[in-house]
Amino acid sequence: MALVLMKHECLVELANRSYRIHIAPGLLADTGPLCRESRLNGPLLLVSDEQVAARYAGVVAESLQAASFEVTQVTVPPGEASKCHTQLIRIYDAALAAGLDRAATVVALGGGVIGDLAGYAAATYLRGIRYVQIPTTLLAMVDSAVGGKTAVNLPQGKNLIGAFHQPATVVADMDTLATLPPREWRAGLAEVIKYGFIADPSLLDLLETHTVESLTAATDTLAEIVQRSCAIKADVVNRDEREGGLRAILNFGHTLGHALEQLTGYTTYLHGEAIAIGMIYAARLSQHLLKLPTNDVSRLQQLLKQYELPTIPPDLPWDRVRAALQRDKKKLDGTIGFVLVRQPGVAVYGQKVPAEMLEATWRELRDTP
Ligand SMILES: NC(=O)c1ccc[n+]([C@@H]2O[C@H](COP(=O)([O-])OP(=O)(O)OC[C@H]3O[C@@H](n4cnc5c(N)ncnc54)[C@H](O)[C@@H]3O)[C@@H](O)[C@H]2O)c1
Ligand SMILES: [Zn+2]
Repeated sequence: MALVLMKHECLVELANRSYRIHIAPGLLADTGPLCRESRLNGPLLLVSDEQVAARYAGVVAESLQAASFEVTQVTVPPGEASKCHTQLIRIYDAALAAGLDRAATVVALGGGVIGDLAGYAAATYLRGIRYVQIPTTLLAMVDSAVGGKTAVNLPQGKNLIGAFHQPATVVADMDTLATLPPREWRAGLAEVIKYGFIADPSLLDLLETHTVESLTAATDTLAEIVQRSCAIKADVVNRDEREGGLRAILNFGHTLGHALEQLTGYTTYLHGEAIAIGMIYAARLSQHLLKLPTNDVSRLQQLLKQYELPTIPPDLPWDRVRAALQRDKKKLDGTIGFVLVRQPGVAVYGQKVPAEMLEATWRELRDTP
């Protein structure tokens, strides 16, 4: 049966695991009814980080309790370091102490760190219970809360332990973005620019008419941007849930982006900042290999600058960059597989790029920004 969607909703269609993404201001206060609508009935474990909990856990817990849910809370320190086994065990401990059984649901309130950590806890506790995503960063709203990838880190690397586990619903309250630090904002927008470039150039048109300041004030436009980004991700996930192929296009800019994050010890760049540089690199490769028009490369560069995102790579020796690129997970028969763009809106994945071109393009980016 086709569902009638409200203006800013999005449906991820995965047969009996389909779910809705609700996008609007003020939604935290409706968490209880939205969880009931998603047929959640058991007790809830509300997982958040200290910063987000201080601001938003109260209103969420209140709404859940008003809808007669039993709520237990667990809070972890903010930051990537919490995506680890120590915090995971704390979540399991809290769930066991509260006597949560398989009817229980985890509610992940926060950014991508909480979504990934609490989502993985839900994927594994008692062999899997349901969970709800309540993303409070732009990155989480447009990316990590949608699609069902959950993970924790190991000392050896990021996201090495994980599971595919789709949420029961996603509740994106646009009002929460009002407290997001500007740098986090811009980093989230890098993922939106990515969606525009790989799948929907009209998103680029829209972003070109705004700035970070004007967007933060334009809640309705922002909700539209989040909705359209989610729709692109949902469409890709609908067609390729487990990254057999197509889902890889979401990694545009991520091959070099991940390498830069890793080479700089995850301290210099936020993820979105690293992929901004990665997107410029991939666009230039696309220009050389697929004849992406120069104007489109310039357009991407201009838009990234407009949102104060970096476009010039750091001063790193090519040998180290190449070695880091080779460690990337998305390798094809020993060569590095890139996501490139033939024209804005048309992405190509698994593109093999000659080694000389990888190096020449890196140098070009360093020397002629
Ligand atoms: N599962 C996926 O598909 C997927 C996709 C992309 C990224 N990720 C993961 O997401 C993580 C990054 O997520 P993130 O960028 O949201 O970081 P994050 O969760 O660390 O949040 C960033 C910071 O903002 C704070 N914060 C969150 N919401 C706030 C708000 N509304 N107001 C004020 N402060 C707020 C947090 O306390 C934190 O300090 C990484 O671990 C990455 O691996 C996962
Ligand atoms: Zn990303």
